[in-house]
This record gives sequence, C-alpha cells and structure tokens, in this order.
Amino acid sequence: MSILTRRHLLRRAALSATAATPVSAVLGATAAATTATGLAACQSDDPGDDPATASNPAVRRSFPPDFGWGAATSAYQIEGATKEDGRGESIWDSFSRTPGRTRNGDTGDVAADHYQRYAEDLDLMRDLGLRSYRFSISWPRIQPDGTGAANQRGLDFYRRLVDGLHERGIAPMATLFHWDLPQSLQDTGGWESRDVAHRFADYAAIVFDALGDRVPVWLTINEPKTVVQNGYLMGHHAPGRQDPDAAYLVAHHLQLAHGLAVRALRATGGTGRIGPAFNLHPCYPADDSTAAAEASRLHDGYENRLYLDSALTGSYPQDVLADLGPDSRMVRGIRDGDLEIISSPIDLLAVQYYTPIYVTASGGTVRRWPTSEAEWQQIYPDGMYDILTRVTRDYGPIPLTVTENGLPTPDELSADGTVEDHGRVTFLRDHLAAAHRAIADGVPLESFHVWSLLDNFEWAEGYEQRWGLIYVDYPTQRRVLKRSAHWYRQVIADNAV
Ligand code: FCB
Repeated sequence: MSILTRRHLLRRAALSATAATPVSAVLGATAAATTATGLAACQSDDPGDDPATASNPAVRRSFPPDFGWGAATSAYQIEGATKEDGRGESIWDSFSRTPGRTRNGDTGDVAADHYQRYAEDLDLMRDLGLRSYRFSISWPRIQPDGTGAANQRGLDFYRRLVDGLHERGIAPMATLFHWDLPQSLQDTGGWESRDVAHRFADYAAIVFDALGDRVPVWLTINEPKTVVQNGYLMGHHAPGRQDPDAAYLVAHHLQLAHGLAVRALRATGGTGRIGPAFNLHPCYPADDSTAAAEASRLHDGYENRLYLDSALTGSYPQDVLADLGPDSRMVRGIRDGDLEIISSPIDLLAVQYYTPIYVTASGGTVRRWPTSEAEWQQIYPDGMYDILTRVTRDYGPIPLTVTENGLPTPDELSADGTVEDHGRVTFLRDHLAAAHRAIADGVPLESFHVWSLLDNFEWAEGYEQRWGLIYVDYPTQRRVLKRSAHWYRQVIADNAV
C-alpha cells in the first residue's frame, strides 16, 4: 500500500478530519439503472429530493407489502454471560479486559444480560411488531476453542432464541461472525492465518447442521472492513494490531472464510439463503478537481470495491492491488481458486450504511455534514440512496437487505419513565425515506434493520454510546421503549414512513 493511502486510511479512521471544505460537486449516484423488480406496490407522494436530505414528514411513503421491518444486535454486544454454559474466551473478552483498551474499562461480561433475558427481549420484539431480527452467533459458545466438537449447551441457547422468534412470527436472520473470534484461534495467528478461514467453515457447518432447518437467512462475516481497519490498521478494536501489511492479508482471509461458509451451506442441501454483510461508505470527491476524483476512486476501492468486487465479480479491484503492491502479504497470499471460492453465488447482499466519506485531492478526508456522538459518523441520509442504487447499478439486481443503520444519541431516562430520543426518530425517518426512494428507483431492497434493538456494548466506546430503540438501564437491566421504538412500531404497523 502506498504511504499516502496508508496515511490517509489511518487518518480517516483516527477521525482527525478537520473542518469541512465546501463541496461544489457531490458526485453520488443519482439514477438507478434497473427496472423495478416487483416493487410496483411501493408508492410515494414524495415531491422530490432535497440534497440536504431532510425528508418531508408530511409525506407518507408506503413500502412493499412484505417488507421486512427489523432490528439488529450482535452476540458480544448484548449477551453477557461470558462464562456460561461452557462458552470459551473470545478476542473481545481478552481485549476489553486489557487496561486502556475500552472506555472506562468496560467489558461485555454482563452487557444487556440478553443471554438470561432473551425471552423478555423476544416479547419486546413482538410488541414492536418486528418482522425480522438480525442477531449473531457467538463462535466461542459453539466451539470454545474454535475447533472440534460442538458445545451443545451453546447451540441450545440459539435453538431457544430461534424457536422463540418463530413463535412470535419474527423471521430469524443469523450472522455467523460478528467479531468475537475464539481466543485460541487468535493465539495461532487469528485471521492472518489462512487456516482460520477453514476453521470458520467447520464452525459454520456445525451451526447449519443444528439450525439450518429454522434459520431462513444467514450472514457470513459482519463488516470485514471494520476488522481490517479497526482491528489491524488502527488497532482500537480487537486484536489491537497496527500493521497494514497484515491488515489486507486479513481482508483476503475474511473474504475466503465467507466463500467457504457459503459453500458449506450449499453442501447441506438446505434452503437457507446466505450472503455477506458489508458496511459500505459512499466516497465523494471533496472538490471538483481531477485529483480529488482520482483519490476518491482509490478510497472507494479500499472502502467498498475490495469486498464487493471479490464477492460479486470474482476479482479484486486492480487499483487497490496495484496500490498494495506485488510484495504485499495480501497479494502474495492469494492462491489459485481463492476468488472462485470468494465469489461463490450468494442469495442476497447485506448493506450497512452509517456515513459518507469526502476525499480531498491529496487523499485526505474532510467532513461535510454534522456528526453524531460517534465522531466518525456524518449524518447524510442521501448516502443511503446513493449506496443502494450504486450497488444495484454496478453489480446487478441482487436482493439487498439493510442490516444496520442508526446513530447514538444522548438518551436519558426521565423521571416519568420516558426516553425522548427525537434525534433518532428524525435520523431513521430520513434514512428510511432515502431507502424508499431507492426502492422506487428499482433497488430490490427487501428489509431494513435498525441498529440497534437494545442499547449495548459499543466496542471500544463501551456503554457510553446508546444506539438502541430500547433503553437499557444497566444497573437494573430494566428495558424502556424509547420514543423511537414507539415511532418505529407505528411505522411497521402502517408499513409506511
Ligand atoms: C457497526 C457494527 C455494530 C455496531 C455499529 C454501531 O460497525 O457492526 O456492531 O458497533 O457499527
């Protein structure tokens, strides 16, 4: 990787971006090329698209009749019970227990205590009217050391969870890997080791065998890019490395693991659908210079095409490979046949959208829009439209699901027992309006999952940021529906925003 790219990726991830430069031309996708795919029922009275993106609350936008309204969580962020029922240690256990790694030294030891309270949480999901629930399976609950026989008590928890979803009429969507790698596998090299991709396929096969008859949608790896950037470039996520050369080898092995898991599911002959979950950041030139356009293009390669191209077209983007260089560990680590595995046909693509990126002529990044409490997040709903239409335009009409979108807000439980998170309502309304516009323009988007169902352990930020529709009072573990949860329940009931 060029020094420049490395510096800018590091800088971007470090969020040291300075005040926004005015952007004279925002070169996002503005038109979807595909025809509507059975989405004629999607209607809108939306008069138009304000580039500043505030949707008109007076306008009612109906979604397709079977739209999958959902919410998302992940195992380490909500379950707690890190030593229960034979669970092994994960890299997030060891990382978060290391002094200085997380805010206030927070760990996922208790989190939202979902492992014990899942039945109550299932009832809350039913009360909201959710049609889909995206959760993740903790690898160290299933294989405490990352290899070998299944721990049935770990599988039983997910059997109970999945059965409880079906009993309440909610479709389960299970992510196989949301960052909690068994520590034993890290000790043998973690994702730098090609072998871990094969161990992942073994683990996936165990899970498919146990749950394949009752989980209709599987997601393989959650946000491989975040593992690469936060875990191996910046080092503020587990395993806490700062090694760009290792980072992109990890990217390759994560993609390989994805493809091997897809094949493992096909080998079961089951009917479940499967795909990867990518966090896609639309990249825009920060000015109208050629240099900014070129820098933005390369940035897009690292942020988006590295993952999309390999999974959907069977090749890595040449500009990124050239930038990494022939001697990089990643380029040297690609073996014959790997890209065929990585591009094994998938059934759907999960898109997670949080923020755009504006790239300057020198390859740096600037902010253009207000940020949320998460400094890396600029609030730009049109980015949702741009990324969804871009995926459809560039990769064809593969079914899409939004598996994460949301923001942290400074929520407080007031004396009268309410939580007035109006900022979240506005954010979700605007992003759903953008998603609706993408559907109307032909994007085959089938479902949308708010991040997150519950307040939870936000990785290095610990419990300080609250991302949930449902407030968690951590000292008592009491759950309180926030204003946004009441609002979302109505959206689901109306099938419109
Ligand atoms: C995504 C992660 C999810 C959560 C949200 C805020 O990158 O997948 O676990 O941390 O960000």
